Amino acid sequence: MKPAELHYWILGCFSMALCCRYTSDSFTLSDIHPHHWNKLYFAHHWPVTVCKMNANDCHDPPMYWTIHGLWPDRAEDCNRTWHFNVSEIKDLILDMRHYWPDVLHSSQNRTQFWKHEWDKHGTCAATLEVFNSQKKYFGKALELYQHVDLNGHLLKAGIKPSSSYYKMTAIKESLREFYGVTPKIQCLPPEEGEKAQTIGQIEICFTKELQLVNCTEREGESNPIQAHFKFGTSELSVCNDSLPTYYPSELQDRK
Ligand SMILES: *[C@@H]1O[C@H](CO)[C@@H](O)[C@H](O)[C@H]1NC(C)=O
Ligand SMILES: *[C@@H]1O[C@H](CO)[C@@H](O)[C@H](O)[C@H]1NC(C)=O
Ligand SMILES: *[C@@H]1O[C@H](CO)[C@@H](O)[C@H](O)[C@H]1NC(C)=O
Ligand SMILES: *[C@@H]1O[C@H](CO)[C@@H](O)[C@H](O)[C@H]1NC(C)=O
Ligand SMILES: *[C@@H]1O[C@H](CO)[C@@H](O)[C@H](O)[C@H]1NC(C)=O
Repeated sequence: MKPAELHYWILGCFSMALCCRYTSDSFTLSDIHPHHWNKLYFAHHWPVTVCKMNANDCHDPPMYWTIHGLWPDRAEDCNRTWHFNVSEIKDLILDMRHYWPDVLHSSQNRTQFWKHEWDKHGTCAATLEVFNSQKKYFGKALELYQHVDLNGHLLKAGIKPSSSYYKMTAIKESLREFYGVTPKIQCLPPEEGEKAQTIGQIEICFTKELQLVNCTEREGESNPIQAHFKFGTSELSVCNDSLPTYYPSELQDRK
């Protein structure tokens, strides 16, 4: 069996198990949902690092972790006819500006960033009732942000922006202890001639029931879609546990 066939075969078994739990109708290939996903990555990014990656229109980046997105793991652009409409989230706008700002276009009153997140990820999350409108998707993400309280936790753990370096393992261990699950941490790799990486993104994972879960893949699972992390020319990648890690407080480079 080719890998793709195997994949559908496994999906098919899964669907059949589901379908037969609820009904005895026979199942056909069309029952396989093309936008099947099983985990949510809740990505926070560090605005100073995002600005370092592409400083075109970054002014006074917030000094707290902001939301990048809430992403189903294996599906994108699930409904191209369900258009983003900012009026639908007008009650959330103040919180959106504060906690989910378009860091790269801070001086403009733009909604493209939210539109992008809705089109690519929200339309897939919307297969769950809890996310099945724009107001619910963005509203629930804002709720999760308060619940996760990454900023509060890092401060309590004494992990603050600094001109000295952190050990990546110390940051990871602290988060793992606090949440009880393994996060995914992304960095800007060292520039040429440098030793340190720069922390840029922390992702906390949830099940469809919105329970915390490890971001690491279980053995045998393929990697989920990995294409959200490019801004301009630099790219974030999973941090290297053995490199010193910079958690910058200002845009300028060190020294
Ligand atoms: C896509 O979105 C439109 C507009 O909200 C909706 O009418 C339609 O049912 C959706 N399609 C699917 C497959 O969910
Ligand atoms: C956008 O949403 C508002 C409020 O729900 C609604 O009145 C308006 O018709 C929508 N606009 C479009 C283009 O769908
Ligand atoms: C920003 O845009 C929103 C919707 O497009 C509008 O309601 C609001 O008045 C604008 N704010 C400013 C400061 O221009
Ligand atoms: C998460 O991963 C750790 C190992 O890093 C493992 O001990 C634990 O059982 C996993 N938890 C869940 C809920 O999968
Ligand atoms: C992590 O960094 C160390 C030290 O520079 C290097 O030897 C190793 O190859 C890196 N690991 C990965 C996965 O890039």
